[in-house]
Amino acid sequence: MIKAPKGTRDILPKDSYKWRYVENAARRVCENFGFGEIRTPTFEFTELFARGVGDTTDVVEKQMYTFDDKKGRSITLKPEVTAAVVRAYLEDKLYAEVQPTKLFYISPCYRYENTQAGRYREFFQFGTEVFGAAEPSMDAEVISLAIAFLNELGITELKVGLNSIGCPKCRKEYNERLKEYLRPHYDELCDTCKGRFERNPLRILDCKSPVCQQIAKGAPILLDFICGDCRAHFEKLQNYLTQMKIPFEINTDIVRGLDYYTKTVFEIQSDSIGAKTAICGGGRYDGLVAQLGGEPTCGVGFGLGLDRLILFMENNGIPFQGETGPEIFIASMGEQAELFAQTLVYQLRRSGIRAEKDCCGRSLKAQMKYADKIGAKYTVVFGENELKTGRAALKNMQTGASQEISIGDLENRLKEE
Ligand code: HAM
Repeated sequence: MIKAPKGTRDILPKDSYKWRYVENAARRVCENFGFGEIRTPTFEFTELFARGVGDTTDVVEKQMYTFDDKKGRSITLKPEVTAAVVRAYLEDKLYAEVQPTKLFYISPCYRYENTQAGRYREFFQFGTEVFGAAEPSMDAEVISLAIAFLNELGITELKVGLNSIGCPKCRKEYNERLKEYLRPHYDELCDTCKGRFERNPLRILDCKSPVCQQIAKGAPILLDFICGDCRAHFEKLQNYLTQMKIPFEINTDIVRGLDYYTKTVFEIQSDSIGAKTAICGGGRYDGLVAQLGGEPTCGVGFGLGLDRLILFMENNGIPFQGETGPEIFIASMGEQAELFAQTLVYQLRRSGIRAEKDCCGRSLKAQMKYADKIGAKYTVVFGENELKTGRAALKNMQTGASQEISIGDLENRLKEE
């Protein structure tokens, strides 16, 4: 028996309605915030992520699905979407349109990770990216979009963890101080972090190895080193969030695992999935567009893991709307009645009613059992008698109450109900 590869899974009808519900909410909220949907390819040239995400990040160093295509070009299944959206922003000349460009996406991502609850090798992100707005009000807009989306789903208890990691200017001094702190611990660092020590010491702070994590605990705090501009930006952002009543707390541990961030970084975490799992992460990336070959253009956005969000909702009993059992089940007895039932179900379906009937040759008793199992709201039984009189009993499956109706009225009665 061939199985799905580790870290991938099928989303079955018993769950796919949850995904539809969450995705519809994302689309609705984004529309209200003035964000347009972008869809980018599943694979890109590897160089895009190596340059965009950073070649000392876990994502690029350890987690990418990379292969050569038939012409020997290195291709990677997208491990995240920001770099791909920046590529599209440049390639499709979105910068030539009125700015800012406000985009959102719902997209699969691929990372070769150790799998566990809420951590998959194929997972799905709802994300936003904004280009061309330097003001902290846009950081507030992006964060408030994530919160509005969570609230729309009935999630109110999650808080935004907020930090600023400054700009390349302020990070220069910090990197020196960080290296000073790390130098005596150099031999204890994992091999990957030894390689990061000179090239990108900040990445050591979000290494997953327990020893590196322990060392990182005593490291100097980046927020203490940010320059006047970055500090003013951060303070203004907090002011916006406070005025907008968006709950947040400063968390200086948040440095994010991708290299492109500048100034604002944020995460929304939950501990109901696994130890402090991030549901949403994002921030500002004012250098990325230029790094990928464009004019200097600022950017800000987030990625929200839909697999983790749905798991969080399930674990916390937050209801999903839109489970779609049949509104009516048409049972029948005899060949003529069955023929009639098939036609009637077709008519009802075409007029927007979720109608169902048996196509497996069940007895009447078994048809009723089946109707109950698939959650039909109403049933009606057709036999020779009903066909002759043109009247039948419409039964409410929840209350058991039954009322006689004329067959011609069925569609209207169902619509009224
Ligand atoms: P990220 O923090 O790497 O950021 O991923 C965003 C979210 O994707 C995470 O918070 C998590 O919910 C989900 N996620 C990540 N890896 C997995 C996994 N293996 N299984 C399930 N869910 C996962 C980014 O990707 C940035 N591009 C976000 C961003 C957009 N920043 C600015 N704009």
